[in-house]
Amino acid sequence: MKKITKAIIPAAGLGTRVLPASKSVPKEMLNIVDKPAIQYLVEECADAGITDILVITNRGKGIIEDHFDYAFELEENLKKNPDKRKLYEDVHRVAELANLYYIRQKETKGLGHAILAAESFVGDEPFAVLYGDDIIYSDKEPVIGQLISAYEAYGKCVTGVKECTTEQVMKYCTLDVTPRERNIYDVHKIIEKPDRDQILSHFSVLGRNVVTPDVFDLIRATPPSPKTGEVYFSEALSYLAEHDRLLAVDFYGRRFDMGSKLGIMEANCEIALKHPEIGEDFKAYLKALTKTL
Ligand code: UTP
Repeated sequence: MKKITKAIIPAAGLGTRVLPASKSVPKEMLNIVDKPAIQYLVEECADAGITDILVITNRGKGIIEDHFDYAFELEENLKKNPDKRKLYEDVHRVAELANLYYIRQKETKGLGHAILAAESFVGDEPFAVLYGDDIIYSDKEPVIGQLISAYEAYGKCVTGVKECTTEQVMKYCTLDVTPRERNIYDVHKIIEKPDRDQILSHFSVLGRNVVTPDVFDLIRATPPSPKTGEVYFSEALSYLAEHDRLLAVDFYGRRFDMGSKLGIMEANCEIALKHPEIGEDFKAYLKALTKTL
């Protein structure tokens, strides 16, 4: 079985739910405490042994490339000042996390369509897919690493799931599953954006997958949704599920939706509380603030 060393991060959406913040700054570059959202994803990949990452972008997302490049002038400046050594190291290491590649999705036609742009990068290897606006914080094994372990153990494609509220399930998708062992399930069917009476379980796919290159043919065979005109990636996952080729991992980790205003605030709050530099002060601030609510 081939080791998984490649990941793709689709980041070419319009980000309409977080406008106007995402008008000129891609939502994947919005800040969480002291790092842009996409850096958390690249770190998650690097921690799971992934060495090559393709980011799928569109017009106006060039600052993603700048962020993962060396910033020569800035770094030289920081290097000269012994008090700023740690800052220099933090800035420098961003460019060394992984080999980053970029390709544009020329039209915004949905997540499935975006993933198709990765076909030549992937070649004949299994690969990871991390949705660019889903940050998943784990203080144990990185979430994509948890999925890779399941892929290596069972040789099947894997999707990351969590139990969600009924409202969230209706916005995302619903899965028909049976338990296999511990937090791993066999998936039999997926319905994207179900109506209330179509809900099969409260498990939804939340931004992490490990799949094999035959998904590209499955995506190509997927017609655009009559409702939205988008090509859904979940249709390809659903095909895998119906052919007994998909597992779900109820992953350990806290997921934040960077595509929503509330998700951005939750991510900032919870990650700030764990931050070594400001965590304690922020907790004191929050405690005082809650007394006034
Ligand atoms: P979303 O559907 O959450 O992103 O896609 P969006 O279209 O930007 O959301 P709205 O406009 O606020 O509703 C999940 C991920 O897939 C990427 C997005 O960038 C996001 O990271 N995506 C989505 C693409 O790369 N291309 C697309 O055509 C759509």
